[in-house]
Amino acid sequence: MDRIRIVGGARLNGTIPISGAKNAALPLMIASLLTDETLTLANLPRLADVALLKRILGNHGVDMTVSGKRIGDGDLAGETVQLTARTIVDTTAPYELVSKMRASFWVIGPLLAREHFAKVSLPGGCAIGTRPVDLFLMALEQLGAEIEIEAGYVVARAPNGLRGAHVDFPKVTVGATHVTMMAATLAKGETVITNAAREPEIVDLAECLIKMGAKITGAGTSTIRIEGVDRLHGAWHEVMPDRIEAGTYAMAVAMTGGDVLLEGARYDTLARPLEILTEVGAEVTPTNEGIRIYRNGADLKPVDVTTEPFPGFPTDLQAQLMALLCRAQGTSHIRETIFENRFMHVQELARFGAEIHLDGQNATVVGVPALKGAPVMATDLRASVSLVIAGLAAEGETMVNRVYHLDRGFERLEDKLSRCGATIERIAG
Ligand code: EPZ
Repeated sequence: MDRIRIVGGARLNGTIPISGAKNAALPLMIASLLTDETLTLANLPRLADVALLKRILGNHGVDMTVSGKRIGDGDLAGETVQLTARTIVDTTAPYELVSKMRASFWVIGPLLAREHFAKVSLPGGCAIGTRPVDLFLMALEQLGAEIEIEAGYVVARAPNGLRGAHVDFPKVTVGATHVTMMAATLAKGETVITNAAREPEIVDLAECLIKMGAKITGAGTSTIRIEGVDRLHGAWHEVMPDRIEAGTYAMAVAMTGGDVLLEGARYDTLARPLEILTEVGAEVTPTNEGIRIYRNGADLKPVDVTTEPFPGFPTDLQAQLMALLCRAQGTSHIRETIFENRFMHVQELARFGAEIHLDGQNATVVGVPALKGAPVMATDLRASVSLVIAGLAAEGETMVNRVYHLDRGFERLEDKLSRCGATIERIAG
């Protein structure tokens, strides 16, 4: 298993190109199941989760071709992939594949809308919390599906097709909003989703679906309206930049000090975390090329933060912020409201000498004058990268084990950071 070795202490200076967003790429790729024509997606990140979804979609009958490099493409340019689901050859998404990545459960929406049948394995437990699928099932039932659970599979049938309905989510859910929006594009009549997720990835998916012929208004607000159409067609769409990757590097620069341009990053998708970074003591400047983060040697200030659905502070940046606050002068408080078990990085951060106290969903972070490098173990995607951030600022050597978690969501992290002056390398093994 690969490991990442870091020698901390260097300031970060330079430019980091931001890749296409994993959490937009996954639903966009799944949307290819809605049409028998070709959906071309540009700026797809080269990540383990994207590769796994390619296998899952291939199993349903999606043909994929990858375009070659174009003149002017840098070595970190994203991939352009044509996805064509001319015929759905298999409406079952098996346990072996779905259990590896929760988002693959989302194929249930397009399969049901187009083929009127889907059999998809329950995604099962996940390291960051129980993550049930009840709200997906509620929404699909409201669109007219009959749902049964058989031997660990969700079997969904809509013999006469789906029909528009009012879907009111009792809780904001990104995944079920994606799925309901996709399913409703081919339903008869109008669907109204209330208390919809407002995440930028929802807007990106809606924009792509509209290019494919869907009639959607309101994406990005809490009420989305979808007027069903008979069929969707092919389209070209560029995946939005990854706000979580950009926010992660922003935290890293705030932690080490330095001056970095996050090339391609969109301020509007990161307003709240960047506001927090400013409170902590970084200088944040939106530019034509992206977002510039600067911090001189000044002290970091403590803050109190609660994770919330967009536009609030994202749960996907909570671990990284916690790593940063370990070095603040004073005591910070973090409240995690989205997932019940997303503090597994706490015990690993403690190996660096961090002082963090947990009480249910609340973490108290008492800043310490210095962190010391240590061997640590990655537990999930965002937790792993918080350990990298701590390692970049710690004295001495840090070894991050189990980096396959990082490869799920961060494209060539060690290259991007070492080009900005960090001492970081991957050790194959
Ligand atoms: C998406 O997960 C993201 N994944 C997550 O990113 C992100 O942390 C999360 O949204 C919140 O922003 C992708 O986009 C691929 P939810 P999702 O449905 O859709 C509960 C990362 O690190 N819930 O918005 O699975 C659920 O348990 C990942 O990139 C139900 O109770 O999240 C959670 O408490 C991790 N029943 C809350 O809603 C349901 O049927 C929000 O989850 C569905 C969800």
